[in-house]
Amino acid sequence: METNLGFLTSPAGVWSKKNRRRRTVDTAKTVRIEQGTVHESSLEDGAKSMYLDSASRSKPFQCSVDALQQFYTRENAYVANVGVCSNTLAKELAFEIDQARSCIRSLINGDSESEIVLTGGATEAINILAMSWGSSFLQAGDEIIVSTMEHHSNIIPWQMIAERTGAKLKFLNISPKGDLQVKNLAKTINPRTKLLAVTHVSHVLGSVNDVKSLVDYAKCVNVKVLVDACQSLPYMKVDVKQLGCDFLVGSGNKLFAAGGVGFLYVKKSVLKSIPAFLTGGESMFSNVSLEKSAIECGRLEAGFPPAAQVLALASSVQKLKSSLVFESAPAVGPMRNSPQVDKHSALLSQILLEQLSDVPRITVYSPGPDSRPRVPICAFNVDGTDAEVIQSMLREKGIYISAGTHQAIPLHRELGIESSVRVSFSHYNTVDDVARFTDTLKLAVDELPRSRSSP
Ligand SMILES: Cc1ncc(COP(=O)(O)O)c(C=O)c1O
Repeated sequence: METNLGFLTSPAGVWSKKNRRRRTVDTAKTVRIEQGTVHESSLEDGAKSMYLDSASRSKPFQCSVDALQQFYTRENAYVANVGVCSNTLAKELAFEIDQARSCIRSLINGDSESEIVLTGGATEAINILAMSWGSSFLQAGDEIIVSTMEHHSNIIPWQMIAERTGAKLKFLNISPKGDLQVKNLAKTINPRTKLLAVTHVSHVLGSVNDVKSLVDYAKCVNVKVLVDACQSLPYMKVDVKQLGCDFLVGSGNKLFAAGGVGFLYVKKSVLKSIPAFLTGGESMFSNVSLEKSAIECGRLEAGFPPAAQVLALASSVQKLKSSLVFESAPAVGPMRNSPQVDKHSALLSQILLEQLSDVPRITVYSPGPDSRPRVPICAFNVDGTDAEVIQSMLREKGIYISAGTHQAIPLHRELGIESSVRVSFSHYNTVDDVARFTDTLKLAVDELPRSRSSP
């Protein structure tokens, strides 16, 4: 049942430390979307295990698993190839893939289906962009800016292409409170800058970056912008027209679908100037001979697409789209064009940060709690204890979280830590799940030996 408790428009103090338990009763059982297909096992005491690592891989929706299965079990499915024009089955499959492309386009409000390049994931999408656009448009002395909170997938491809072309990487850093220093862009950007590659939402901190302001600034100085939307798409309204970005990537891994699928959005006006990097297959060449083939610009897919995964992704995207609920945008907010986070996810984030602030000996790296938009992903450490120790203590109590550097070693260096514990909630989690997690964490911290410096 829908509740009316989005924190963004809640009067100040409604969710205070004093009345936390009372509010929990109201919202405890609210699950916004089905539990997903990964069923929790029962523990010895009868409780269920709890998966709190959706930032790494979200549980697939049943509709997505069904779509995968149907692809291989429906009549004649195995003989359909895409792009073999004379074959009716191929035409049917090509049509379905176009529909899937259209579904992804609509999720991000792109202009045309041709702007959506289907890939084997977000990492592959960024590599394709680096090798196609990067190889053609970067030269020695050019500069690429990435933020220090990026996933390795949005750092390493840019390092590689910088090495090949003689371009240089520069960095947009974070404040001691864990916020991206948007205002530092003006100091980092210069006439040699060609690209800004930045994440919409941190996959470690759960903070939502003011990408709109970054894009607006970059556009004034003619710099292209890539937005890594892997962690924003599951929780937020993402609109490429409103953001004004040139490129954007998303991942099936985080979109309640199969792994090994994702997409690259390229703005139409930019796409037509980008030569192919991957080549071969029916769709990309109008003229092929043994000596030379006419490679067209704007075609970044080659060969047979990951058809089953793409259809499964489209089905989960459809479900996600119809399930997200947004508050109307606040008239004033901490960010210009304040990003809209799904109501349930915003509530979980707020409660998570509030309750973590009550856990003894803990350092939380995610900014807040406050009124900034955020998603329910949070990193922390417990004083004097390895992240892996906390992870295994919670695992013994049936709670799955992650520990390590979460493919964000530069961010951890910047925070001055080796590793962290990360917990992430999603649409299938409830307010009760947050309380169970923080209560279990408190018990685990109580069991730890006290270091001499601990209070
Ligand atoms: C922010 C971010 N970018 C990129 C990726 C890579 O996505 P994929 O697994 O689809 O390659 C991830 C995955 O964890 C991520 O969280």
